[in-house]
Amino acid sequence: MSMRRLIFPVLTLTSLVACGVALAVAATAPAAKPAAKATPPGAIKAEPIPPGYHFPTPRKEIDAWVAVNATGKFRNHAWDVWAGMTAPSHAVHSGQRLPIWETWYSENEVFVAPGSIKPEAIRTEPKHPFAKPRQLFHVATAKGVATPASNEQVVAFNKFDPESARFLMASHPTPKGSANTYLYTQAADLTKLNKSWPSGTPVVNRAIVDFPDRGVDTKPVMWLIKATGGLTPFPLWQGTGSDATTNATNPTPQTWLNCVLIDPKGKGGLRPATPAEVKNAIANSNLACDAKKYLYAPLSMMYSFPLTAQEATDFNSAQGGPPLPQAVAGDFAVLAAMHVTTKEIVNWTWQTFWWTGTKNPPNSFPGSTAGMTANVKGPWRNYATCVAYSMVVPHNDPKGKPVVCFNPFLETSPGIPDGINSNCMSCHGTARWPGNNNGGYPATYLPNGYINFNDPTWFGDQTRTDFAWAIQGNAVK
Ligand code: HEC
Repeated sequence: MSMRRLIFPVLTLTSLVACGVALAVAATAPAAKPAAKATPPGAIKAEPIPPGYHFPTPRKEIDAWVAVNATGKFRNHAWDVWAGMTAPSHAVHSGQRLPIWETWYSENEVFVAPGSIKPEAIRTEPKHPFAKPRQLFHVATAKGVATPASNEQVVAFNKFDPESARFLMASHPTPKGSANTYLYTQAADLTKLNKSWPSGTPVVNRAIVDFPDRGVDTKPVMWLIKATGGLTPFPLWQGTGSDATTNATNPTPQTWLNCVLIDPKGKGGLRPATPAEVKNAIANSNLACDAKKYLYAPLSMMYSFPLTAQEATDFNSAQGGPPLPQAVAGDFAVLAAMHVTTKEIVNWTWQTFWWTGTKNPPNSFPGSTAGMTANVKGPWRNYATCVAYSMVVPHNDPKGKPVVCFNPFLETSPGIPDGINSNCMSCHGTARWPGNNNGGYPATYLPNGYINFNDPTWFGDQTRTDFAWAIQGNAVK
């Protein structure tokens, strides 16, 4: 289903509602109490995941799934969250109805100086602060051990749902009930908080207060599809085999042999490309695509939006110059992948999605479309997922079996220690301020191991940031 087809009923409904409110106000003016303002058509207000998607699921229920490692339940839940956050919002922009998550706050609205915080902001365009994913530089920044290859092509940013954003935009007494309040988006506040812990404070208690249960944080990963000049190659994850990548250790998208030629105009589904289509492929010497394996898919199978002139400039500077195809106004940013985490459970639920055009990777490694619920609609059905609802199995056994889940577009980077064996919850469990003790990840770091939150090596002189690396990475200096 195309997002575009929804636009007319939406516009009509929105204008009717807006008119209704205007009339009601006029009839009763001067009102003693101003009526709640309707969002004008074309305006964007951050919307929560609507009811009907089992979100949030009660903590007790998910905890019970975790206790027995009910993978099927985790996957259904991940798809429910995906369905809810990709459902149509009330906002229309550039001729298409925005999915709920596009209305959310970006890091450049949340991590700002205290004077510029606008918790109920209504904007006229969705915020896309394109950047190279900061986790690719994380180790390098801390320790200088690994730098991302200069040809990493992915571009990303962070989004916070209204609950998570409001939490980050407000000061919090820390620890709970304390007279001292801290704004966690500010480096000075975090440093003050980290110095405030009385000696003898149990290591596990050196932490910010928890995000709200409904909090959702995401990291959308974008790829450029040219509107004109031919069909843009898009890498397709098909695992770590020699028929799928030129680098089994760090199989970044640039090393994938299977690629899909994305047609900005075409119709139909994923299929082998014709010789004429192969000839029409836009050159990108940065990719390892094997022309003999080219597949074809229309753009309508992906979530996309047209770039403005400013966004095209921003995209190019985040992505890098030629030989990568360069964006101009009217080209498309497509959603290649997306990390999603929810605070429904104490250690957060972790799921990640990437575009497959429904062609699952061999052995469903690290995930697939399995368990997809019927409420996932349109192009959103063409993504696969993997889940990490615990670090290990059994969930509370430090020697338990690792749960592996990573996003092929992100954690395959040489900037991530052993990313193809990693677990979201393990790595995010070490998120802390200031975060540079142990020089990034110590020799004992297991990318998918059990993290003990009382471990003084990790957290002794630190403050845990409730699994949010974004706090450490984006705090305003
Ligand atoms: C090796 C460590 C590591 C692993 C593994 C990892 N991440 Fe992250 N993640 C990071 C860092 C570092 C950031 C950067 C924060 C920023 O954007 O400044 C980040 C950012 C994010 C964000 C943006 C908001 C936030 O909380 O920081 C989300 C959401 C996220 N990751 C989810 C996931 C999911 C889901 C997985 C597993 C599929 C995963 N991550 C695996 C280190 C990791």
